[in-house]
Amino acid sequence: MTRTRIYLSALLLGVSQFALTQPVLAGGDIEVLHGWTSGGEAAAVQVLKDALEAQGYTWTDMPVAGGGGGNAQTVLRARATAGNPPTAAQVNGVAIQEWGAAGFLRSIDDVAVPGKWDDVIPAPVRNFAKVNGEWVAAPVNIHRPNWLWINAKIFADNGLKPPTNWDEFNTVSEALLGKGITPLAHGGQNWQDETVFEDVVVGIGGPDFYRKAILDLDESALKSDTMVKVFDEFRKIRGYVDDGFSGRDWNLATAMVINGTAAMQLMGDWAKGEIVKAGLVPGKDILCVAAPGTEGTFLFNSDYFMMFNVGDDKRAGELALAKGIMDPDFQVKFNQVKGSIPARLDVSPEDFDACAQKSMADMKASLATGTVYGANSANTGQPPAIQNAMFDVVTEFFNSDMSSQDAVNKFAAAIEAAK
Ligand code: BGC
Repeated sequence: MTRTRIYLSALLLGVSQFALTQPVLAGGDIEVLHGWTSGGEAAAVQVLKDALEAQGYTWTDMPVAGGGGGNAQTVLRARATAGNPPTAAQVNGVAIQEWGAAGFLRSIDDVAVPGKWDDVIPAPVRNFAKVNGEWVAAPVNIHRPNWLWINAKIFADNGLKPPTNWDEFNTVSEALLGKGITPLAHGGQNWQDETVFEDVVVGIGGPDFYRKAILDLDESALKSDTMVKVFDEFRKIRGYVDDGFSGRDWNLATAMVINGTAAMQLMGDWAKGEIVKAGLVPGKDILCVAAPGTEGTFLFNSDYFMMFNVGDDKRAGELALAKGIMDPDFQVKFNQVKGSIPARLDVSPEDFDACAQKSMADMKASLATGTVYGANSANTGQPPAIQNAMFDVVTEFFNSDMSSQDAVNKFAAAIEAAK
């Protein structure tokens, strides 16, 4: 029997003396579905669970393995459409809008309005969290998918400098290949392929081109020579990954950089959660630089907890969870472990590592120049049909000898068909 149930039974029996000797339990189970199962992710879940349990709630864990959150979404859909949604679920931006439009979510304005969330959450993050003008999800962080992680020792031993554009990346990678070192740790799963691809789109085309092609789906951008060049570079990158890349989970690719079996990884800063968990110092043992050519552009995805319209008995728990997530001290503790930065703009960078500090500064600079863009690879761009159409072509190209021009034609046609 849980402590909560003991407490409730005691109350029902009218044993007030018993209740007085128990910890104050605000009451109730909160079932939380999430996709956080790697070492760093699980450590971050624990921080959140502890915070909620400290308020007297019971956290019922519903983890769904699989990087990038795709599997979690599939399970969530099955549960919700069967009429059995969890109390809350961890998602990225686009999903909130879809679940909200389908009427599954309920407002958390009761805590968001007094908490003045509008004033502290940056607009690109806020826009995904509201449906019909009301908050339905609490953002716990801001991730940056366009990072390059570098094993500092490998680079130092080989006299290499972090690449700042794709030509430099190619030169560095060729040098590493020449020494028998795998340049790039990669996991061949569609969302990871897309992560690398989007880095190249920004790095070669620039932020405006990324917005036009990937977010606005502008036909002339999609069919442009620049897009051919993007696929040309993406083809080169294929030559820099090891034979075992196919199907590899992202965290196993991160482990290759951590233990020195590969020199670099292009991955969001959830990779930093693994680095911290392994006891290494981000910015020192493992260097962090913007993916080649993407300095000045901040691709982002936030993790939110959206609240389902479940029984009234869950209401207090949902509000407690939402309020707890937005607590500034909690956002520090959580994001130190998760690898991301706070969703709130008013949290000081001083308690964060060098990579997070760079991320916080870069995001503020990009907010000022209007170059914070949702990462489609991380569910913060297109709705699933178009996102999958993109993933399919990108992954097929990476795993075949398709020409760049064919890829461009196929990419544009697949997007058009999915609209
Ligand atoms: C999520 C992160 C997660 C990563 C890898 C991203 O889509 O936003 O929180 O760590 O996928 O699973």
